Amino acid sequence: MRALLLESVHPDAAAILRSAGAAVETLDRALGEQALIEALAGFQLLGIRSKTEVTEAVFEEASDLLAVGAFCIGTNQIDLAAAGDRGIAVFNAPFSNTRSVVELAVAEIIAMTRRLTEKNAGMHAGLWDKSAEAAHEVRGRRLGIVGYGNIGAQLSVLAEALGMSVYFYDTDDKLAMGNARRCATLAELLGTVDVVTLHVDGRRGNLGMFGDDQFALMRPGSLFLNLSRGFVVDHHALRVHIESGHLAGAAVDVFPQEPAGRGDEFVSELRGLPNVILTPHIGGSTEEAQQDIGHYVAGKLRDYAHDGNTTMSVNLPHLSLPPRHGGRRIVHLHRNVPGVLAKINSLLAEHKVNIEGQLLDTRGEYGYAITDIAVDYPSALFDSLAAMPETIRVRSL
Ligand SMILES: NC(=O)c1ccc[n+]([C@@H]2O[C@H](COP(=O)([O-])OP(=O)(O)OC[C@H]3O[C@@H](n4cnc5c(N)ncnc54)[C@H](O)[C@@H]3O)[C@@H](O)[C@H]2O)c1
Repeated sequence: MRALLLESVHPDAAAILRSAGAAVETLDRALGEQALIEALAGFQLLGIRSKTEVTEAVFEEASDLLAVGAFCIGTNQIDLAAAGDRGIAVFNAPFSNTRSVVELAVAEIIAMTRRLTEKNAGMHAGLWDKSAEAAHEVRGRRLGIVGYGNIGAQLSVLAEALGMSVYFYDTDDKLAMGNARRCATLAELLGTVDVVTLHVDGRRGNLGMFGDDQFALMRPGSLFLNLSRGFVVDHHALRVHIESGHLAGAAVDVFPQEPAGRGDEFVSELRGLPNVILTPHIGGSTEEAQQDIGHYVAGKLRDYAHDGNTTMSVNLPHLSLPPRHGGRRIVHLHRNVPGVLAKINSLLAEHKVNIEGQLLDTRGEYGYAITDIAVDYPSALFDSLAAMPETIRVRSL
């Protein structure tokens, strides 16, 4: 088993894969499409972060590839359908940096509410400006969370602990944490709260979802945060509403175009605005989160490669059986059409192979069966499983 880890994923990931017997190569940067195709020859496992695009062309060429680990939350950079159609599992780390993003959002809400950015800049310029004007406590203020998923819901809990009143808007039905109140529309939320914070996911429909119309609906003097995705917000409109004084401040961590590497120039029309905190996409960038991501995703790659387990896979059905001790395990990914399990089992019976354990799950167009058998099987069995018209990929572990 060979694993290629790009974009400086946490070293614990390489250690976990090596201890599972994989030969691991690492690179500290992303690769373009052609370079990735060339680099992947002979590798079964690929680890990336957000900057490497894994396109259909890459999957088409990477005949040895079994699984891709996204050592981050988002998976928009991966063509998931192309991966699934070739039986390649994709994993990510949906929860590992949730807390880090939430803590940054809390810090920024307090910093903007106390106008710390201006006080700090003034002090560094030699200005002693002791005044309470426009500085507030967050206690009792109304926080509006747009996107009440992992991050939004955890922020809700911490904000209530600080004494804020929490409102949220989500396109899906979500369980309200604590005393948080659901708003029926985005407009209702925007007209209600003192602080609006975006935690929506990166689906295409969210492109430009927050622009002039939405800023105009926010209450005068309110604060705005975006730690979700850069393309969600119209930055020109944000600038206009800050300069007009309609918004009292903003904190932005994600941008429509982000520099490719550390040290590159950051170009944005949000530079130089008062009470605007700009951070270089560091919401999830803590040592704790990176280490947790390294452990989590490397563990998923190892368990898929060794045991066929797909729990929490982004694109395949979720199945998990304990590791085998002796005997064999057949993992079979197929088109989700009627009768496939019956076909697998009749082939096993035909070859006089006893089933010791078996699980099947389906997800959308895919079905996945894990079958534990006691003995080595005749190679004709594997060939017939592979030859089934519904088979996408079959492995013997
Ligand atoms: N700044 C960072 O470093 C950083 C780190 C981690 C995650 N993120 C980003 O934070 C965002 C949230 O992450 P998460 O783990 O909470 O995701 P999640 O999938 O758990 O939650 C997203 C929520 O947004 C809701 N949603 C989607 N579109 C919506 C819309 N238009 N209006 C209202 N609700 C909408 C979804 O129903 C879902 O409940 C993602 O975009 C992720 O990429 C950023």
